[in-house]
Amino acid sequence: MRVSVIGTGYVGLVTATCFAFLGHDVACLDINEKRIEDLKQGKVPIYEPHLEELLIACKAKNKYPIFSTDAKEVISHGEFIFIAVGTPPQANGEPNLEYLKSAAETIGQYMQDGAIVINKSTVPVGSGNWVAMLVENGIALRASDASKHTSTLTKLNFSVASNPEFLREGSAIADTLYPDRIVVGSDNQEVANKLKGLYRVLSEQEFVAPDFCPRLENFGKVEVISTDITSAEMIKYSANAFLACKISFANQMANICDLVGADVLEVMKGIGSDERIGHRFLNAGIGWGGSCFGKDVDALIKIAEEYNYNPEMLKATKKINYAQRDLVIKRLQEHLKIIKGKKIGLLGIAFKPNTDDLRDAPALDIAAALIKLGARVVATDPIAIENCKVQNPGFELSYVNNASELAEGLDALILVTEWQEYLDLDMKDILSRMNGNLFIDGRNQYSPSKMRELGFTYIGMGRA
Ligand code: UDX
Repeated sequence: MRVSVIGTGYVGLVTATCFAFLGHDVACLDINEKRIEDLKQGKVPIYEPHLEELLIACKAKNKYPIFSTDAKEVISHGEFIFIAVGTPPQANGEPNLEYLKSAAETIGQYMQDGAIVINKSTVPVGSGNWVAMLVENGIALRASDASKHTSTLTKLNFSVASNPEFLREGSAIADTLYPDRIVVGSDNQEVANKLKGLYRVLSEQEFVAPDFCPRLENFGKVEVISTDITSAEMIKYSANAFLACKISFANQMANICDLVGADVLEVMKGIGSDERIGHRFLNAGIGWGGSCFGKDVDALIKIAEEYNYNPEMLKATKKINYAQRDLVIKRLQEHLKIIKGKKIGLLGIAFKPNTDDLRDAPALDIAAALIKLGARVVATDPIAIENCKVQNPGFELSYVNNASELAEGLDALILVTEWQEYLDLDMKDILSRMNGNLFIDGRNQYSPSKMRELGFTYIGMGRA
């Protein structure tokens, strides 16, 4: 089937490449010329494990996506047109819908009759109707253009659907090829059936799994949830809000554990064994960051407030999360007393391992707070340093290439991002390079007793 994808960010590029790998004919549009030129040559502009290999696999199957900045070429190609443009947060918490608006109007100008326009971007509830209106506007532009050239234009049919994504950065390919569910939101049964048809190879798992991203044993068919557009849009927000709540719940329990002398790891293990609760997303620490949780929780708060409803639980989820970052500073003050002039090291800058993404990264807030208090802050990260330098010019953070260099002369070391290589460190060697012995385990990855045996003053998050 012919698929067009507007936007080649994380979501657009992963979606497009996976559809191509599954055998569809895919064309991708972006306004960023450099990005498109790179992609034409197989250069992947973002860090996402296996994405480059997947593009190579598409080439081998003769299914390499068309990458273009020509809206007409890409949009007129698709029976299915996916909108996967960014909806970044604005200062007031509402998403910026400028790119979505422009994409929908452009689709109206160039789409073929009968196209299905599918929203993959995370959009405020009700955007399905809004996108339909914007596509109509685009069609009207085309009609007025045509009338200038005295040709007639027949009425164009199209439908709008919602198909939220649930992929995580760093495991986006596996999340797309082997999802827990596929959500198809449409108010028209025929359209829903067509979308299900597009996904059939995936939902039935009828493709040969790539060697670099194998299918887990016992992974069966994928549930396709077919619902109305508004519910599909709400599913996306609720899923992220729930995961954010789950982490904030674990963090609140961690803080109580600290007070009463319990270990939050034991407590979460104990509650996670209850199948109704589950083990995942209960890791307490310095909390969530990234491009989705904060943005989506904020947007959902705004949506509720539009209806004069006060979503207290969502507000508390946010408040608890960001307080975890302050807690790190509090712990440093408790143990170092004076922060001014102290040298503090951050292990990891990215908001989580396996990505170079720094959006809402706890490391940036922690570094900024420490710099403000007069500390000398040094950081390392396997891949995010370049991004950090480019995105934060003038930031008084210094960078080193690895953990050993980082440890030199430190008064305190903080694990911010649990990259695997930071979990396999020779901590005895790290301690010998430090000036002090304070270690704050912001991700609860180390054994408190082993760290104390080595001579560290070990502070976890809720490890008593
Ligand atoms: C998230 C959702 O998981 C995904 O379904 C959605 O489509 C996009 O948003 P992502 O932001 O890529 O994905 O990362 P995720 O793995 O969910 O982690 C988000 C943040 O939560 C990270 O900062 C991570 O460190 C933190 N986290 C996660 C915890 O603090 N504790 C946990 O138990 C799990």
